[in-house]
Amino acid sequence: MENSALDLKPLDEILDELADQYGSMISILQRTQEVYGYLPMDAIYHISERTGVSPAKIMGTATFYAQFRLQPIGKYLIMLCKGTACHVNGSDAIGDVISGELGIENGETTEDGLFTLEYVACLGCCSLSPVMMINGETYGQLDGKKAVKIINDYRKKEAAQ
Ligand code: FES
Repeated sequence: MENSALDLKPLDEILDELADQYGSMISILQRTQEVYGYLPMDAIYHISERTGVSPAKIMGTATFYAQFRLQPIGKYLIMLCKGTACHVNGSDAIGDVISGELGIENGETTEDGLFTLEYVACLGCCSLSPVMMINGETYGQLDGKKAVKIINDYRKKEAAQ
């Protein structure tokens, strides 16, 4: 079942520490996601083998919590805030512009693996609304044009590498 392409060593280190601890599944999944950027199926099977919890049950936990991803994310994670302040200041329209620009919807990744778009609730900087964050960098007072320019700056940066 397991795909040898996935390096399970870091996962084993997490499991050495947590596999036998009662109620540790969420911590295991969080740390697994920190390592791989998402929860690969091979990791789920491996966690199942080491903890004795069925893959279906682990998947149930992973899909219940919005924080877990089951697909790999792009190099740049665009988190567009859809919280109240950002919503009233037009984040829906910005989301549409970003989707049109990148050809992806919320939760999807561009084919070149560069960008993932994710709608999130309040990013904690409402005074700058509408806001998006890309790999931890905050961009405020957005409009569609500004968002596209920022995305293009990332594209240029990539092309220059
Ligand atoms: S609602 Fe968007 S940052 Fe608070």
